Amino acid sequence: MTQPQIVKGPVEPRLWQMAEEVFFLSAATQQFDDAEKRRAFLDRWTGYYRDCEPQRIYLAIPPGGRVAGYLTGCMDSRTAERLYRDIPYYSLFEDQFGAYPAHLHVNVHPQCRGRGIGSRLVSAFVEDCDAAHVAGVHVVTGPGLPNVGFYRDRGFTTAVQRTWRRRELLFLGKSLRRS
Ligand SMILES: CC(C)(COP(=O)(O)OP(=O)(O)OC[C@H]1O[C@@H](n2cnc3c(N)ncnc32)[C@H](O)[C@@H]1OP(=O)(O)O)[C@@H](O)C(=O)NCCC(=O)NCCS
Repeated sequence: MTQPQIVKGPVEPRLWQMAEEVFFLSAATQQFDDAEKRRAFLDRWTGYYRDCEPQRIYLAIPPGGRVAGYLTGCMDSRTAERLYRDIPYYSLFEDQFGAYPAHLHVNVHPQCRGRGIGSRLVSAFVEDCDAAHVAGVHVVTGPGLPNVGFYRDRGFTTAVQRTWRRRELLFLGKSLRRS
């Protein structure tokens, strides 16, 4: 099968719109009271990357031109002031941001999972972080979620679990320091 092309941002609005569709297909929340709440949810999780770090958007585009998956990243979580406001638990793992300054979000269209697309998106971002001499990359997920194995297999092996408003959250870090 032909591998999808990895396109780095800033990306055309029509491509970003397709990434937003993948976001909603992958989101834990599927029901919204109205269009405004749906929009606010989208903005909370993707708005920072769209507005403040469009160069850290990575799209996987197979032949045919539909977006099969996307990654949004930030190379220095300490400077992303808006995320401290947008994401309620953002500061929960702040003490880890020194060793693992970069973070990412990745989602693949449900019909395109298990074909290596998520791995390629993560590799593209991690390689760019490495080239920029970033010390490490992290994700925040839930301890029981299927994606935990995906990240661990890709070297996100430093695990820190904490409770936020009675919900368990799992920080997974991948060090890029050369020993
Ligand atoms: C987690 C997620 C991003 C992974 O993306 P993906 O494209 O499915 O991942 P990959 O295909 O690269 O790797 C997944 C598995 O498929 C396997 N795989 C890789 N290439 C493959 C191929 N050509 N054919 C079949 N399987 C393949 C990998 O070995 C990997 O196996 P593992 O589970 O043992 O690690 C994706 O499943 C997803 O969007 N999940 C829902 C949303 C989510 O959890 N996002 C992360 C939020 S923190």
